[in-house]
Amino acid sequence: MSAHGTAQPMTAHKSGPLKGTAAVPGDKSISHRALIFGAMAIGETRITGLLEGQDVLDTAKAMQAFGATVTHHGPGAWSVQGVGVGGFREPADVIDCGNSGTGVRLIMGTMATTPITATFTGDASLRKRPMGRVTDPLSLFGTQAYGRNGGRLPMTVVGAANPVPVRYALPVASAQVKSAILLAGLNAPGQTVVIEKEPTRDHSERMLLGFGAALSVEKTSEGNVITLTGQPELRPQSVAVPRDPSSAAFPVCAALIVEGSDILVPGVSQNLTRNGLYLTLVEMGADIEFQNPRTEGGEPVADLRVRFSGDMKGIDVPAERAPSMIDEYPILSVVASFATGTTVMRGVKELRVKESDRIDAMARGLEACGMRIEEDQDTLIVHGLGAGGMPGGATAKTHIDHRIAMSFLIAGMAAKKPVSIDDASPIVTSFPIFEGLMTGLGAVLTHDAD
Ligand code: S3P
Repeated sequence: MSAHGTAQPMTAHKSGPLKGTAAVPGDKSISHRALIFGAMAIGETRITGLLEGQDVLDTAKAMQAFGATVTHHGPGAWSVQGVGVGGFREPADVIDCGNSGTGVRLIMGTMATTPITATFTGDASLRKRPMGRVTDPLSLFGTQAYGRNGGRLPMTVVGAANPVPVRYALPVASAQVKSAILLAGLNAPGQTVVIEKEPTRDHSERMLLGFGAALSVEKTSEGNVITLTGQPELRPQSVAVPRDPSSAAFPVCAALIVEGSDILVPGVSQNLTRNGLYLTLVEMGADIEFQNPRTEGGEPVADLRVRFSGDMKGIDVPAERAPSMIDEYPILSVVASFATGTTVMRGVKELRVKESDRIDAMARGLEACGMRIEEDQDTLIVHGLGAGGMPGGATAKTHIDHRIAMSFLIAGMAAKKPVSIDDASPIVTSFPIFEGLMTGLGAVLTHDAD
């Protein structure tokens, strides 16, 4: 099944050494938030380095539908004329968030405390994903939501006319849920408090502070207690979006498993809430140098020099690390296939409710490629075959999931036989320049099913 009509099969072939510089696009999480917070400010927010992937473009369209003016000035350069906290107008039509869980959940939160009604939908992948994790806490503000069975999209959200502030302890480690509550709290009077046991990505907190909201984060024995004072006047900002560490993961991991590779990936975030993959790769014995540590767009970043690493070892990846690398398990399971020994990924049940059930999608695809995999509801185990060891010679199903599609293409660059995917079209959601960037480094990709 394709995201937008015709499926686009693609095949990755064993590739020569990867060489050169891989400048990956802007961070997806920060790009969504720059548009949304820009829409909540009064005046013009200027954004550079915005990811022009489909997910983010859908959020830009949604912000227009709610009354903000979003203008494209040139590659990555956008501006948002905001309407202020509580200034959203009722959209005239259904809001289609495409493939993006982040888009729909954050936007639901943003409108939840304004007395307007909006109906949300998305593609076949997004329509399967649970929205109750967001609408349950939003109901505490006084918001009502009417969706399909199991809290699925399409869903109509009726914003609270007289919202009350909320105190909510997250039952799942989810930055999307945390952010939806904080965004809803913006237009509630008094203090909204979110408690997270395990830290998740903190871009919303950083950006709220940047836009002038009163927000504090207290580390307690319960976890992080985040307190936001409602009804601030947000001041427009200049946002420089740093590069996406989740996208950088693909060229980085490709270089680690393709023999003879030596690449530079500039400006990769070292934000502690995002860097779990890089920590894990180093523990496995990956040859990664972290050069020129600095701050860019308010995020700590470094340039990564990555060389082929033929003697990586499987490790046990602890459950506590999951939130800081939640989107990187698919590509880690590919790297684990080219390590010796066993890699155990624990505490990963959230992967079952991403763009696809990523444990199942990776397990089935890797098995088709000749790997031995074990899984349970919350764990994925890969028995590695060492450098060059994956047999390949199979077609993986991507289930409208960009990260599954890219992971199997990277696998095919180092496997003995080519690896195909049934549909490369979802890649545009997060990494529209993936094919050109990877072939520029020396990857061999063809538009066919081998
Ligand atoms: C995101 C949070 C994560 C992540 C998603 C982006 C965000 O989801 O998987 O790709 O921008 O807040 P959860 O917070 O639901 O785990």
